[in-house]
Amino acid sequence: MTRYFTEEASAEAVHDRMGEDISPRLAVVMSSLVKHLHPFAKEVDLTQEEWEFGIDFLTRTGQLCSGERQEFILLSDTLGFSMLVDAINNRRPARATESTVFGPFHVDGAPVRQMGESICLDGKGEQCLFEGRVLDLEGRPVAGAKLDVWSDNADGFYDVQQPEQQPKWNNRGVFIAGEDGAYSFVGIKPVSYPIPDDGPVGKMLNALGRHPYRPAHMHFLVTAPGYQKLVTHTFVEGDPYLSSDAVFGVKQSLLASFERTDGEVPWRSRFDFVLNPSGE
Ligand code: BEZ
Ligand code: FE
Repeated sequence: MTRYFTEEASAEAVHDRMGEDISPRLAVVMSSLVKHLHPFAKEVDLTQEEWEFGIDFLTRTGQLCSGERQEFILLSDTLGFSMLVDAINNRRPARATESTVFGPFHVDGAPVRQMGESICLDGKGEQCLFEGRVLDLEGRPVAGAKLDVWSDNADGFYDVQQPEQQPKWNNRGVFIAGEDGAYSFVGIKPVSYPIPDDGPVGKMLNALGRHPYRPAHMHFLVTAPGYQKLVTHTFVEGDPYLSSDAVFGVKQSLLASFERTDGEVPWRSRFDFVLNPSGE
């Protein structure tokens, strides 16, 4: 029997149209999407004008996307959706280091540097020694682990946001841990910065009474054969934006202490990364 579209059975009407010979996963995902999207419109009594505004918002979001700018990911980030997908896909034992959002500013192919070397090429900011070890769940060193690190500069911009002003590969580097799993490099004590807020996502944040700032952090991508890839940051303890990160990336276990030293490099931050074996 044909079921015509009604407000009451709207999601079912769309579901019934699905072909039989389609990908089972696509059927599950699309059914669920429609099943939750329709009640959303009903719950808020969505007006025609609001629907048009939403379509225009998504259109502008798409139009801003380019090789250098991914406004849709920014939308996902600021709605907490990226962190949710990250959480679903990175359930790990409590002892393993927690993951957080990757962000749009990673660049493949950063120079491999010697242990202890500086990644700060523009000479700006307060120098900080980052050191620690890469360990397995039993506390044994993961020899040869690769740490790909990146941060903004002292003005709050990544090198790729200021290709004319900053040296290429500024505040980026790859370090290979030794037999003892130890790593060390000099960067800057990170500073908080606003995510790109000159587009529709920035307008949305403003309309919602939210600021665009991320608390100061150093990005780490830690990989080693036989272990799950770890995408994470360490956050500067005490940063004023820790509890209101624009992209919800902060986790208690990722707060790192930054201590003053008497040495030439005025700050030091120690953090050990614990990797989860792959296949678990
Ligand atoms: C970042 O930390 O680099 C970042 C993450 C999400 C959105 C924008 C920037
Ligand atoms: Fe960042």
